[in-house]
Amino acid sequence: MEKFVINGGKPLHGEVTISGAKNAALAIIPAAILSEDICIIENLPTSISDVNYMMKTLRQIGAGVRLINNSTVEIDARHINSYIISHEITKHLRASYYFIGALLGRFGKAKVAMPGGCYLGPRPIDQHIKGFELLGANISIEDNAIVEATSEKLTGSPIYLDMVSVGATVNIMLAAVKASGLTVIENAAKEPHIVDLANFLNSMGADVRGAGTDVIKIRGVPQLHGCTYSIIPDQIEAGTYMVAAAASYGDVLVKNVIPKHLESISNKLIECGAIVEEYDDAVRVMLSRKPARCNIKTMPHPGFPTDMQPQMAVLLAIAEGTSIITESIWSNRFRYTEQLNRMGASISVDGQLAVVQGVETLKGAPVRADDLRAGAAMIIAGIAAKGTTEIEDIVHIDRGYEYVVEKFSAIGADIRRVYYPDSDALDTVG
Ligand code: EPZ
Repeated sequence: MEKFVINGGKPLHGEVTISGAKNAALAIIPAAILSEDICIIENLPTSISDVNYMMKTLRQIGAGVRLINNSTVEIDARHINSYIISHEITKHLRASYYFIGALLGRFGKAKVAMPGGCYLGPRPIDQHIKGFELLGANISIEDNAIVEATSEKLTGSPIYLDMVSVGATVNIMLAAVKASGLTVIENAAKEPHIVDLANFLNSMGADVRGAGTDVIKIRGVPQLHGCTYSIIPDQIEAGTYMVAAAASYGDVLVKNVIPKHLESISNKLIECGAIVEEYDDAVRVMLSRKPARCNIKTMPHPGFPTDMQPQMAVLLAIAEGTSIITESIWSNRFRYTEQLNRMGASISVDGQLAVVQGVETLKGAPVRADDLRAGAAMIIAGIAAKGTTEIEDIVHIDRGYEYVVEKFSAIGADIRRVYYPDSDALDTVG
């Protein structure tokens, strides 16, 4: 087993380069099977485990996957021979359900085990299913565990989403892109990764318009072709380093970003007293005094992203005064506050609200990464805290942060990955 050991209390200084966006990659990898051709995907975060599981899934169904370099992969979707994806693969990550839309689009059928992923509260897929059914697919769910989708012919349709859902928007786009006629998704998600997926599909010859607004129009095309495409930078990885810079009273240039995607995060950092300088493809974040309090409400894009909520809570935990965080996307995304309180934070949670009373400083402690972004928050807390923090369950962090030890070390953090024996495994010896 592995854990991170962080000796905190040192300001971060220097430059960090952001990788390709995980959540765009997780949509674009399955999208590549919609063409019976070869796609080359650049700026792909190939070292994170979520992307690795998606590439394993491609191989499981017969696609060729070749690593050209650390961030470029060739996907050869010409000889895919299966529309079935087992629980062995899907249990590892939520986004495996994008193969339902992609396989439906490619073969008119898909059999995919229900997905795993971070536990953030119940994660229903009713809107995905509603979309597939409106496109003409029959959906059955075996034993609450395997989704089977079949269709003689997918036909475009108006689809109104009852809530803004990234996953449902992606899945419907994947299924609709080769359906006959026009699909109109209303109340669609507007996240940067939705726009990236649309751009990728259009590079393959699709006709997708309106991505980035809440109405996406997809005119089905009979065939797609291969392409070379470069994934956008990761908004949330960038935001994580921006908050880490501020929480450590540091000065960090975060490179390879799209500043427009970071506006909601930059604005909150500025409200907290940080200086945020924007360049063409970089942002510099500096903070030299105790952060000011501020309130945060998570919202679909362009609102403040839920995936930055735990990281931002660390900054508010050491701010002057009391801040309120309202989580409006997930019903159970405050579990990490227990861990932060072990480090001396003063956060009380009441349903979807967290009241964060700023303390003078955090103290190092043994903590756990409850999920991916909770884990990112623990790293920031460990860097900001006085003393040593040990973070267990870092497998969650490895799902979404590439070279995290190397990147934080390069800007001055004292962070190490340490191997330790699994006590359960030891118990069984002899
Ligand atoms: C995506 O999850 C991201 N994952 C999540 O990032 C992110 O937190 C979330 O969007 C919100 O931005 C990926 O892109 C792979 P949703 P997703 O469908 O698609 C409800 C991370 O840390 N809902 O937008 O699963 C749902 O329960 C991850 O990188 C339904 O009720 O989220 C939630 O309350 C974690 N029925 C809300 O909508 C549905 O059919 C938004 O969920 C679908 C969703």
